[in-house]
Amino acid sequence: MRLYINIDHVATVRQARRTDEPDPVRAAVLAELGGADGITIHLREDRRHINDRDVRLLAETVRTGINFELAAAAPMVDIALRLAPVQATLVPEKREEVTTEGGLDLASAPVRGAVGASLRRLEAAGVRTSLFIDPDPDALDRAAELGAHAVELHTGEYANASGDAEKAAELTRLANAAARGRERSLAVHAGHGLTYENVIPVAALPHIEELNIGHSVVSRAVLVGMERAVREMKEIVLAAPGRVPEPGRWLPPMGC
Ligand code: PXP
Repeated sequence: MRLYINIDHVATVRQARRTDEPDPVRAAVLAELGGADGITIHLREDRRHINDRDVRLLAETVRTGINFELAAAAPMVDIALRLAPVQATLVPEKREEVTTEGGLDLASAPVRGAVGASLRRLEAAGVRTSLFIDPDPDALDRAAELGAHAVELHTGEYANASGDAEKAAELTRLANAAARGRERSLAVHAGHGLTYENVIPVAALPHIEELNIGHSVVSRAVLVGMERAVREMKEIVLAAPGRVPEPGRWLPPMGC
């Protein structure tokens, strides 16, 4: 099982202030040090989080491999070909959505046309290809017909299911989709909405060889890093030259 870490939301925090921190390039290095098998980024057409500078620098610095998520649109494929990632995952993209809401609609002939054209260009350049799809038999069959190397099963409905029965039904749907993918000689990945609480049953499914997880890991990183981040800022503030300690406001350093 490979764990790819999606660092888009490190860039989301940066873009909230249009500044230069936190830098997703540095986050990628730390994710790799933590054991990530690869780094996933989604360069959206509206550049709402990851931008062209990030893509350029990540291409130079990521040591594991980049899974590049992109819309099936010629200008995005041009960028993918320049980047030459280990893997490109085609995803549906709508400007108004908060996050990728569903898999590619491969029942639609125009979508199949755009996806097929993008796959051929990526394939010709030697890039491994994956299609982000809902865990439905038809979508798997169409992904295989289109000639993708892999599919990424959308786990959002599993993640959002309420109650044990609904969760179990969504898990069965994922299990069946994974089995069908293997029957069709597709490598099977999964992702979206996976968290520290809900990932185990998905990671335990047969045939799934890669997980893509972003939001939950970035969220946890904010919390597990908060204590240290505040302590460091406090040390800087307290060490300001000429600062007179306020009576009653001083706390001994931890560990004394
Ligand atoms: N896989 C795909 C195709 C995605 O679009 C996303 C979200 O950017 C993810 C995985 C990761 O989802 P999450 O951030 O919910 O872990």
